[in-house]
Amino acid sequence: MKYAVFNNKGGVGKSTLAVHIAHGLALEGYKVLLLDMDGQNDASLFLGFTSEDYKKTLYDVISSRQRVELQECIIHARDNLDLLPSTQVDLINLEFFREARIDLILKEKLKPLEELGYHFVIIDCGPQRTKVNDAVLCYADGLIVPVQMQAASVRAVGNIYEYLSDMRLDAGMIKLVVPNMFDQRINDSKENMELLEEFIANDDLLAPPIFRRTKIAEAGKLGKTVYEHDSESARQFESIVKKVISHVQRE
Ligand SMILES: Nc1ncnc2c1ncn2[C@@H]1O[C@H](COP(=O)(O)OP(=O)(O)OP(=O)(O)O)[C@@H](O)[C@H]1O
Ligand SMILES: [Mg+2]
Repeated sequence: MKYAVFNNKGGVGKSTLAVHIAHGLALEGYKVLLLDMDGQNDASLFLGFTSEDYKKTLYDVISSRQRVELQECIIHARDNLDLLPSTQVDLINLEFFREARIDLILKEKLKPLEELGYHFVIIDCGPQRTKVNDAVLCYADGLIVPVQMQAASVRAVGNIYEYLSDMRLDAGMIKLVVPNMFDQRINDSKENMELLEEFIANDDLLAPPIFRRTKIAEAGKLGKTVYEHDSESARQFESIVKKVISHVQRE
């Protein structure tokens, strides 16, 4: 299964969620590839890798001028968890502008992944509407959407539905909505949670919230996941991972 962690809005926790779903699934024994499609490289950094740690990236595979095998770009990040970094997403975006079939491009370029036996490919997306995101939305089997528990962010959820509709994609591809940076101490968070519940027609899509915790940001800065740093946050991400697994088992 290929899940993209997506939201047009920046800074809502896409990279954090992508890394923790990927590592969480790996800890459950699934073989996972985390595909970094965010120009800022955060998924790699949150796992403790910098651009010094890899020479070849997805751009080398996608660029028509080079002859690089996909396998050469994959790095081993943790037990059961591999990482496919892409440092030059802006250049990939330019390449994709020349593509007539944006809906097929990643399917074709990432075809070798099918032979590598991954149970899950988790894709960390950059924000906004880009050609790269168009391609990712067409490639993914489902979307996991983190929403920051802030009124403006909750209202912006409508933009995701609009984007899917403009791409002629079915809103049913949203498999899970994850309220993030929930703060129990603020009333606002509860109101925003109710607002989100109104937005999301199907309760089954809504995951339990992830609380705002300094340790989550701290783990990212240390290049660790919360499973290696903070057992309380780890429990919250584990319940999201269980939801992902139960969705897959049902489909
Ligand atoms: N639940 C949380 N509690 C505390 N900090 C968090 C939480 N979730 C994410 N953060 C922090 O918030 C910042 C933004 O998160 P993240 O980078 O995952 O967002 P993003 O949606 O990927 O951003 P971008 O759109 O820039 O790619 C990071 O510093 C991250 O460590
Ligand atoms: Mg990010």
